[in-house]
Formats: sequence, structure tokens, C-alpha cells
Amino acid sequence: MPTLDAAWMPRHIAIIMDGNGRWAQKRKLQRVRGHEKGAETVRRIVTACRELGVKALSLYAFSEENWSRPRLEVRALMGLLRRFLVGERATLLKNSIRLVVSGRLAKLPDSVREKLLPLIAETANNRGMTLNLCLAYGGKEEIVDACQAIAGKAASGQVAPEAVTPEFFEQHLYVPDLPPIDLMIRTSGEQRISGFLPWQLTYAELYFTPVFWPDFTRADLETAIADYQARERRFGKTSAQTAKLSRPRKDAR
Ligand code: IPE
Ligand code: IPE
Ligand code: MG
Repeated sequence: MPTLDAAWMPRHIAIIMDGNGRWAQKRKLQRVRGHEKGAETVRRIVTACRELGVKALSLYAFSEENWSRPRLEVRALMGLLRRFLVGERATLLKNSIRLVVSGRLAKLPDSVREKLLPLIAETANNRGMTLNLCLAYGGKEEIVDACQAIAGKAASGQVAPEAVTPEFFEQHLYVPDLPPIDLMIRTSGEQRISGFLPWQLTYAELYFTPVFWPDFTRADLETAIADYQARERRFGKTSAQTAKLSRPRKDAR
């Protein structure tokens, strides 16, 4: 396993958990078996991130576009999500993990929301790590929903157009207080964003691995983090300027 620099951990990791279907198909299993296996990976990776000192983890669990999958697959995914929420409650509480969600929650079935909403409330004061589940999530939808909220305020005279700065805009995202994403990982070999957190990914480092999500291990996560730690994040500056910047921050955990 690679050696990681504890002072230079990504604060916020975001993952597009892809390849459940192909993992199952390769084994001549139903796609839903891949999703079940994928749920085990979620448990493993949440725990690993918590132990590594990552402050926020965003997981793409169900996209706006995924509503157009076969009805039975959507139903199976919702059932799995409900079971995940019930099964992980104790772990979230024990490890001081705050659960938040990004997405159009009104579209989720009541059976999911009745588990989700109490757990969000119950974990709201946890400070160990934030787990941001992206459910019924679309990047364009998130931006449009923020615009609608801001336009409403503008129409009623609560905000002047010039007051709409990036910082102000951010306050209208689904989860306003998340740090910017440092590292975005996508499994299964696909190299695209598929609508995932476009605003938050603006300056993220991107990492793609061919490993299918059900096979993704803590070692794979650490390899991705090591790759991230070897990069120079310049944020528009020159390399010479960045040499100073990229020294471990005083505030880094
Ligand atoms: C990711 O795996 C899980 C969801 C999108 C819900 P996929 O189901 O997309 O797996 P592939 O891409 O078909 O292999
Ligand atoms: C993206 O995966 C959404 C999730 C992982 C939940 P998809 O498998 O749905 O993405 P595309 O359609 O292949 O880009
Ligand atoms: Mg896929």
C-alpha cells in the first residue's frame, strides 16, 4: 500500500460509483447483485475515509437520468438504499458521521424518505465526517434549483443582482457548507462526469480507475489518494509560486 501524507489528505473526496452492472454481467449474475455488492463497497469506503481523516465524502448513488432505467432495477436500488440507511445508522452515530443529501428528494419514494429524513436530523451535529449522498441528483438541476431560489429573492427585492457572487450562489446549493472537492474518483473505466457536482468539481483533481465499484478496495482508495498527493495543484498560478502553496497547510489535519 502506498504511504500517505497525513498532512496532505484531500478534505473532500467525491466518487462516481460506477460498474455495478458490468461486475454482475461478467459473473453472469443479475445487475442487482452488482448493486448489492456495491453497497458493501460503500460501507468499506465510508469507514476508510473516516479513518483516514477525510472531512467530506460525496457519493453519486442515483442520478436524475437513472430514473429511466428499467422499473424493476429502480425499485431494487431504492430498496437497497432503504436497507443501507437502516443498516448504517449505528455506524454513522458511532463514528460521528453527519449524513446530508444532494438531489431532488421529493422524487424519492416515501419508503426511502421516511428512513432518510430522520437519519439526517439525528446525525446533524456529528463532526467526524460529512457523508453527502447524491440521490435523484443532477448537476444542471442543482444549479437551476439554486437559480430559482435566487431569482425568487431577486423578484421580491430581497437581493440585488450585483449581490449574486460565487459565495452567495454557493449558499443556495443543496448542501451549502461542504468544502470544495479536492479529489474526484470514477470507477469502471468511464471517463466522464455524468452530471456529477459540476459547481463543486470546478478545481478538483480527477482520477479514473478501471476497477468496477464492487471490487474497489481501501487499497484502491489509498492508491488514488497517493496519486492526488503527487500532483501539483496550481490554481492558476505558476509552478514557482505553487511550490510555496503546496507545502502542507498549517490547518491541515
Ligand atoms: C453504478 O453502476 C450504479 C448506479 C448508476 C446506480 P451501474 O449500474 O451504472 O453499472 P454499469 O455502468 O452498468 O456497469
Ligand atoms: C452515473 O453512472 C451515476 C451514478 C453512479 C449513480 P451511470 O452509469 O448512470 O452514468 P452514465 O449514464 O454511464 O454516464
Ligand atoms: Mg454505469
